[in-house]
Amino acid sequence: MACVGNIIFHLLFGISEPLEDEAIHKRAETAFQVAKTFNHPFVYLVTLFPFLKYFRFLAGKTYEESIRCCEELSIFYKRLIQEHRETINYEGEPRDYTDAFLMAQRKHNPNLNEEGEWSDKQLIGVVGDMFFAGIETTTTTLEMFVYYMIHNPEIQKKLYEELDRVIGKDKTIAMSDQPKLPYLNACLQEIQRITVVAPINLFHRTSEEITIDGYNIPKDTIIIPEFEMVHKDEKQFPDPWKFDPTRFLDAKNNFVKDDRLTPFSVGKRACVGEALARMELFIFAATFFHRFEFLPEEPNKLPKYEFNYTLTKNIKAFNCRIIERK
Ligand code: HEM
Repeated sequence: MACVGNIIFHLLFGISEPLEDEAIHKRAETAFQVAKTFNHPFVYLVTLFPFLKYFRFLAGKTYEESIRCCEELSIFYKRLIQEHRETINYEGEPRDYTDAFLMAQRKHNPNLNEEGEWSDKQLIGVVGDMFFAGIETTTTTLEMFVYYMIHNPEIQKKLYEELDRVIGKDKTIAMSDQPKLPYLNACLQEIQRITVVAPINLFHRTSEEITIDGYNIPKDTIIIPEFEMVHKDEKQFPDPWKFDPTRFLDAKNNFVKDDRLTPFSVGKRACVGEALARMELFIFAATFFHRFEFLPEEPNKLPKYEFNYTLTKNIKAFNCRIIERK
């Protein structure tokens, strides 16, 4: 989680912290805690009855703690934004996302209005969104990858064989290696089919009345697109609960991209981090299995299929043995 957090942090604020440093782990944990609010029943009630937000004390400890973490992160972001404002060179290249935002802010909101577009409040909102949306999703997908590899040692073995044959033992894996690794790409696509990390997606609303397949949907209807219905539809993917990367290999073992899968959603509001997430998934997964073998904690003590529900559906922490591959 901390590695993924560090990447997002670098993008937003130009900072990378050593992984041994407590701070980055703590911040990733804080973001994780904030994500818990997303699936808190109180949030659904506030969505229906907004005035309830003034009665947050009714929502219990988890909610209070998540709000406290959110406030703690906001103070931290404000400090970093202030530091950027003091050191930015408006004529030069932006060092990171915050610089780019501040440059645009100078043009579109020169009086630094506190509300609305290009305000600091908006910047804090965007930074917070990227931080929450970017850490838990990618981390959960990678954890599920490890989970399925432990459960399917024969698939894990095929991954090593491909990585050793194509990359060799000593090279560091780069994005340019991706097209040469069809089996790994098929495993990554299969993990995103079987692991739907955002099971109820985000809420959308129709901006105008529309008719689809004879169903009339009025303007302002809340829509929750559920792509898991396709990912786990046995007419589309026979034996849908089985982890089987060969679904995405053709007769010559070439990788086949499948447009029926939409883990990042579709349309204008689809995941803004898709390209980054795809790179992270490839680099981390390839490097993990190039360097290490993942085994159950004890023979026959396989990780359990149990989940926490926050912003995402994420697997409960499990133990495993990680052995360096020679
Ligand atoms: C495996 C990794 C990821 C998955 C499966 C994923 C999936 C999704 C999904 C399903 C949505 C909802 C789109 C919709 O409303 O239709 C979303 C939104 C979003 N994602 Fe991701 N995401 C991932 C990684 C990331 C990363 C790395 C970032 C940031 C760098 C990110 C930032 C966001 C943001 C900011 C939104 C809200 C977009 C908006 O409403 O405008 N995501 N993501």
